[in-house]
Amino acid sequence: MKLLVTAGPTREFLDPVRFLSNRSTGKMGYAVAEAAVLRGHEVVLVSGPVSLPPPSGARLVRIVSARDLLAAVETEVDAADALVMTAAVADWRPASVASAKLKKRTGADPTADAAFRLDGEGRATLRLVANPDILATLRPRKGSRVFVGFAAETGDPLAEAGRKLAEKGLDLLVANDVSRPDAGFEVDTNAVSILSPGAPPEPWPLLTKREVAERLVGRVEQLLRARRSGA
Ligand code: CTP
Repeated sequence: MKLLVTAGPTREFLDPVRFLSNRSTGKMGYAVAEAAVLRGHEVVLVSGPVSLPPPSGARLVRIVSARDLLAAVETEVDAADALVMTAAVADWRPASVASAKLKKRTGADPTADAAFRLDGEGRATLRLVANPDILATLRPRKGSRVFVGFAAETGDPLAEAGRKLAEKGLDLLVANDVSRPDAGFEVDTNAVSILSPGAPPEPWPLLTKREVAERLVGRVEQLLRARRSGA
């Protein structure tokens, strides 16, 4: 199968040296890309800025912002059988990007619509605007493709994940509780539950990200096989 995988964080710049981002390291997405290559699949990996070596055998497309990510996925999705969105997309970006480095004392950004402002009392505000929701934007182009989302939660992961599965029209959603020290960001293990429409959540044991990736690729293969045989 042709698998399109997204991984890592996005960066949303406010001036030439500063950005908003998140803790994603890309480990889960790179593991999915590697597992799929090892299973003989054709893989395109769209990656935000991470410090991992490119997985051999996958075509790597580098992006920085959520809008870059959307553009890359829009270019690649039609050729794909499945999309696995592990990327931790920033939901917001500064309303404008200052062309010169913002100054501590003046906040100086001469443009009228400056997102960063300082008031006379040393309080700073940063105005943000919403980034596109990539899965929601792509939903009309889904067709018979398998779409997989990831949800990193700190509260009740299953309740939130159930909502996202339905709202984003996904075939699978991998939910994980990132408040656990052995799951989620930066670590090599993950404790996830798999949600799919009409089925009870399936908790997987604590696994390495590589094992989660292998199992997940297997599930995507199963779904595509069933879809192709008309089951
Ligand atoms: N996602 C996306 N576009 C965004 C944000 C998220 O496509 N702008 C994708 C992620 O790659 C992930 C899934 O949606 O596969 C769930 O991401 P998450 O950040 O948990 O969901 P949000 O829609 O941002 O919901 P919330 O902020 O309410 O948790």
